[in-house]
Amino acid sequence: MPKPPPPETVTITIDGRQVPALKGEMIIAAAERAGVYIPRFCYHPRMKPVGMCRMCLVELEGPRGPALTPACFVAVADGQKMSTTSPGVKKAQDGVLEFLLVNHPLDCPVCDKGGECPLQDQTLAYGPGETRMVEEKRHWEKPINLSELVLLDRERCIQCARCTRFAADVAGDAQIDFQSRGDKVEVATFPNRPFTSYFSGNTVQICPVGALTAAPYRFRARPWDIEQVESTCTSCSVGCRVAVQSSSNMLTRYLGLDSEPVNHSWLCDKGRFDFEAVNSVERIAHPLVRKNGELVEASWGEALDAAAKGLGEAQDLHGAGSVAVLGGARLANEDAYAWAKLAKGVLGTDNVDCQLGDGLPAEAVLGLPRATIDDACYADAVILLGPDLKEELPILYLRLREAVVDHGLKVVELTPRLTGFTPYATVTLPHLAGESGAVMSALVGDAAPADMVGGVPAEYVVRAREVLAGADDIVVVLGRQSLADGADHIVAAAAAIHEADGAVRFLPALRRANVMGALDMGLAPGLLPGSVTLEDGGEWYTAAWGSVPAERGLDAVGICREAASGKVQALVLLGADPLADLPDRELARRALAGAGFVVAVDSFLTASVEQADVVLPAAMYSERPGTTTNLEGRVTRLGQKIVPPGVAWPDWMIAVELAVALGADLGVETIEELFDEIVLLAPSHAGLTRAVLDARDHRDGLVVPRAPEMPGSSPPASGDTGETALQDETAGVRPLDPMSTPGVAAAEAHAVPVTAVAMDERVADRAGADEAGEAGEGGSSTPVEWVAPAVRRPAVLSGLRAPATHPPKPDGYSLRLVSARMLYDGGTLVAHSPHLAGLASSASLRVHPTELARLGLSSGASVRVICARTTTTMVVEVDRCVPTGAAFLPWNGAGATAVAGDLIDAASPVTDIRLETLS
Ligand code: SF4
Ligand code: SF4
Ligand code: FES
Repeated sequence: MPKPPPPETVTITIDGRQVPALKGEMIIAAAERAGVYIPRFCYHPRMKPVGMCRMCLVELEGPRGPALTPACFVAVADGQKMSTTSPGVKKAQDGVLEFLLVNHPLDCPVCDKGGECPLQDQTLAYGPGETRMVEEKRHWEKPINLSELVLLDRERCIQCARCTRFAADVAGDAQIDFQSRGDKVEVATFPNRPFTSYFSGNTVQICPVGALTAAPYRFRARPWDIEQVESTCTSCSVGCRVAVQSSSNMLTRYLGLDSEPVNHSWLCDKGRFDFEAVNSVERIAHPLVRKNGELVEASWGEALDAAAKGLGEAQDLHGAGSVAVLGGARLANEDAYAWAKLAKGVLGTDNVDCQLGDGLPAEAVLGLPRATIDDACYADAVILLGPDLKEELPILYLRLREAVVDHGLKVVELTPRLTGFTPYATVTLPHLAGESGAVMSALVGDAAPADMVGGVPAEYVVRAREVLAGADDIVVVLGRQSLADGADHIVAAAAAIHEADGAVRFLPALRRANVMGALDMGLAPGLLPGSVTLEDGGEWYTAAWGSVPAERGLDAVGICREAASGKVQALVLLGADPLADLPDRELARRALAGAGFVVAVDSFLTASVEQADVVLPAAMYSERPGTTTNLEGRVTRLGQKIVPPGVAWPDWMIAVELAVALGADLGVETIEELFDEIVLLAPSHAGLTRAVLDARDHRDGLVVPRAPEMPGSSPPASGDTGETALQDETAGVRPLDPMSTPGVAAAEAHAVPVTAVAMDERVADRAGADEAGEAGEGGSSTPVEWVAPAVRRPAVLSGLRAPATHPPKPDGYSLRLVSARMLYDGGTLVAHSPHLAGLASSASLRVHPTELARLGLSSGASVRVICARTTTTMVVEVDRCVPTGAAFLPWNGAGATAVAGDLIDAASPVTDIRLETLS
């Protein structure tokens, strides 16, 4: 469904003042935009109105005179006249508040909501001042746990139904509702159905009183001791906008901010609560150097010298190709650029990969026409060819779910097992793992499909074709379905539909927080910053940096193979834990053992970091400023709220100082200088100056140019700087009143692709400004001393070659393994967040009941698991979402002796396993 055009404007009169309003919107929203705040409790701009609390009554003039009308429940109409302050309205407000407080405990001094409570505030602003009710109030046991994360103080509840409506309507998890009658009404879970929603923290944020509190925040801070900064969540690549709050240099809470193009104010619980890991006492606070086999604390100077010595020796003795850098997707853009410059410009190696064999080739991510989240939500049809969005990219799941439920979006899902999105898909094609290429080819082909295509019956394919027939605007959500099979079949599937329909756009569904920024900044083999290839951008960056690698390097799996064989002598782990994340743990083990020298830049002593020779402590997000790029290519600001523990540094600073220790100079001293250099050099960021990014209209970030509009491929018209239409306002922190209507201000803010500014013109301008001693854009001078080379700006990567994929057919005794991440796993962030750690998925192997019956086993039994790589023992569980012939194993499940990575051989396109009963 195409995005609806902006609604017509009508004129209404509020308190004697004529104001414009959008046809169809509720009076309460129109009034707020006109600067008239109408008090409310049950109304929320992102949910359907219910008119339950009556706090928003206004006097609306009608044929029979003024009538009290709920402003949240009546839409504007041209010529409407109303009063929000008449004596009748005041009397109604007094009455509503007096009755709401009949049973309210008024325990404000010990209530977490005290100081930011709409009931307190609106009682003071609109209430009667005193009450006629003197009876004993009701009492409940307090608090009760609705879930591990959400606590309920029932006597504080004002029955606004915000929480229950959110759970049912927005999250699709109708696990809480009202029970009982009269003054016994309470919010409750259903018998034997706990509140396990991944979005439960939103109910706390939107509860207008202190009835719902979050366990990680309860009694930790009060509103007047906390400070906040606007930032972006980096727990996955959706990039939800958040307010980061702290007290006494400890993070206390994250709250969702309403970003119209991204998160609509919602957060998933992992993103909301994993800040506990940032506060963890287990953070690495000081550099460590291995001495006599032990990692011991060292000064920065000593550690940097040791790192430089190890890297330099490998480079000198074995050549630049003996050095490799793994990781970088948790870094900010500035960090990623600095490390790309260090690796490719100073160390001279192209063996760099920010993904750990668990993503997609950079060409598939950057080279295909890109869609935004909005593009997907308003497309004619979406093809889901990626992970379980509910588990890996939860707010993208919410956005697409809303598009299906509220706007009728059609979705065709290609998946090796049923996912959280399957109930909303129009058609699901449950195929054999590793066969998505064959299924997609059949889907987009003209010929009648064979009886079975990759395990999918022909009638399913025909039904899916019918869904896609006539859809002019198709968006493919593209990612890895499973880590137990290679990426080739996904790339083949993407190439098949791209070839069949050149208008199809792709929304990358890669989970790692800033994987898009890291790829864009060149942390991938064969790439340089700005999404340009080594081949196309080599001359450009040689002119800027002095040198770049002559040949394309290795990807993560290739790096690990060469490290295992001793050819890669020095390995830098840049926030990477290959033992946990590379989909081949045996290879990761051999790589770490084979690399003669390992430097780890990290915040925690992970299993991989413990094997390093030098450990350099890195700041985490909320501890450093910068920018990040979400899965759409949207660049947003990261806010710094606290200082890192000990002497940890931001990653860019580590790169700069390590370069110095190596006898080189990255030519930058501040993060602002790094940003300016990216804008100057990286074609994808052309025009995205600090002033542009910080403009008030761009607080939801800017989508950097997509392939077809890239500078270099079509130079801008003469005199078109692309910046003339952009505002130059400085943004503050947006208001954070949970009762406000944050969506209204953002309603018009949509993705604005940055228009290119001719690189050579800007370089010339820059040179002129420097000569004249002027400050650069963004308010400070740019220290980049670089003269435009006489080479053409490189074009951005585009196009995709389809790999040939021929996964073997499974034999009749084997199950094809599917392994994917769950929201809560045994990973570093969850493990170090006390309130999330207990929620981690178990590491049991899940199979269809038919398979269990075939083996004569019951759920919970231990089985022998045999595969080409190893034989191990696991607990097996029944799961009807796993098709027959397959087995599902959560990636990095908690408490496992053997994990999926132990079963997977990166050299094999698929992983087949056999189960045997233990004798
Ligand atoms: Fe409203 Fe809070 Fe009660 Fe839920 S718990 S109904 S959000 S007052
Ligand atoms: Fe953070 Fe991703 Fe959750 Fe959004 S969906 S809150 S970016 S983890
Ligand atoms: Fe309008 Fe509750 S009835 S805000």
